[in-house]
Amino acid sequence: MKLILLGPPGAGKGTQAAQIVECFGIPQISTGDMLRAAVREQTPMGLKAKEAMDAGTLVTDEVVIGIVSERLQQADCGKGFILDGFPRTLPQADALKRTLSALAKDLDVVVSLQVETDALVERLTGRRACRNCSRGYHVRFDPPAEGLICDTCGGELIQRDDDQEETIRNRMNVYHQQTAPLEDYYRQTGILKVVDGMAPIAEVQQQVFDILRAI
Ligand code: AP5
Ligand code: MG
Ligand code: ZN
Repeated sequence: MKLILLGPPGAGKGTQAAQIVECFGIPQISTGDMLRAAVREQTPMGLKAKEAMDAGTLVTDEVVIGIVSERLQQADCGKGFILDGFPRTLPQADALKRTLSALAKDLDVVVSLQVETDALVERLTGRRACRNCSRGYHVRFDPPAEGLICDTCGGELIQRDDDQEETIRNRMNVYHQQTAPLEDYYRQTGILKVVDGMAPIAEVQQQVFDILRAI
């Protein structure tokens, strides 16, 4: 199963990817998570990416295409993969096509999560993630059992640096200008499936799993 989860910031890409990993046993390739790890480790790439991420703009195509192409060649992608947050521009989509064709692979489906802007802002301002294991939560829609502590590992729950309201607005604008055109791009290839991402997490999961099981 080779799929892309497409959708604006806060649409639920990471939340749904985690469920797919568990049920279908394929890895999640999140460029956002990989870039945040590089920022934490202060690698040269991380230092370069940090400025764009803090501003809510995109890291250069060259950098993200490089990390994804490398990641797709690793053995655990043999059975498939979930791309989360990539591609985000038309040049990234074209580069992905070239990388997959060099590996003699093809995408099965692009799942587009549709969520209204007001709901996205509420999701992002209330999002928390475990400092330790990165598991995601929401203070209202997906709260931990106790306080601000991770159910899985007991780690502290923190907010992402780019989940401040002003940065969120920038990320939304960037999405509409640079990433939304990918819907038409993949619709034209006949592999786009649209999901109502406004539904509760479990219902969205049901819709996504129904699509994946039909492939
Ligand atoms: P990235 O980390 O990819 O961020 P994003 O695309 O803005 O998406 P998010 O991770 O914010 O949202 P999500 O859809 O994963 O939502 P989640 O499941 O967490 O990228 C960050 C930055 O890195 C970019 O701004 C850019 O600078 C850079 N970058 C990354 N990739 C790049 C690329 N390819 N090219 C260039 N630059 C790149 O859910 C959100 C919240 O809502 C959670 O709290 C969750 O619990 C809750 N929730 C989820 N689903 C539901 C539901 N159905 N109902 C109610 N609540 C829900
Ligand atoms: Mg995410
Ligand atoms: Zn944890």
